[in-house]
Amino acid sequence: MTRTVYYTATSLDGFIADRENSLSWLLSRESDQEGPMGFSTFEKGLGAIVMGSTTYRWVQDNGGPDPWSYTQPAWVLTHRDLTPFPGADIRFTAADTREELVALHAEMVAAAGELDVWVVGGGPVAAQLAEAGLLDEVVVAIAPVTLGGGAPLLPARVELATREVAQNGEFACVRYAVVRPDAD
Ligand SMILES: NC(=O)c1ccc[n+]([C@@H]2O[C@H](COP(=O)([O-])OP(=O)(O)OC[C@H]3O[C@@H](n4cnc5c(N)ncnc54)[C@H](OP(=O)(O)O)[C@@H]3O)[C@@H](O)[C@H]2O)c1
Repeated sequence: MTRTVYYTATSLDGFIADRENSLSWLLSRESDQEGPMGFSTFEKGLGAIVMGSTTYRWVQDNGGPDPWSYTQPAWVLTHRDLTPFPGADIRFTAADTREELVALHAEMVAAAGELDVWVVGGGPVAAQLAEAGLLDEVVVAIAPVTLGGGAPLLPARVELATREVAQNGEFACVRYAVVRPDAD
């Protein structure tokens, strides 16, 4: 069964980018992609991905010579006219109502088949999905740093249940299940 998983790295004080929209505090750190909750294993289970426009533009600006490495169908939430990566399967779309978000999420789940949907970020996209009852898991790699401000991890009230805890390199990794209000 497809899960919708917000998988990201965060500072200890809950920011996924610093005030300058930089990830320099993150990209310099040691971790094992094949290790506990590492990206290599996670990536193998993905059938679709979704991100907001700031994250998409970060990938465009910082991704290097082959910046779009994703093979899964992707949705970018935006009201802007963004430039696609040549040959990439990317749908630019807006979801201004809960109904539109639910319909969009159903498209992603259908495209994912038996695999999972990765919520790449940022926080606003994860928050909208959580508030619509569409987010199943949050997986964070917590970097040993505080940033004091920046792009928030998950700007919504979301109840979570801790399912797995591990260390990977410099990171404390935690997998949480989202607890829905109507769940037992
Ligand atoms: N630490 C990590 O591992 C990690 C992971 C992912 C991202 N990041 C970074 O974190 C930062 C996140 O930026 P952010 O907080 O601005 O979040 P974001 O989700 O990347 O972008 C937010 C923007 O997406 C668009 N959007 C969101 N929901 C929408 C909807 N329902 N319909 C239409 N458009 C929608 C809106 O912009 P417009 O409508 O104006 O286009 C909104 O301002 C970025 O710098 C990114 O690089 C870090």
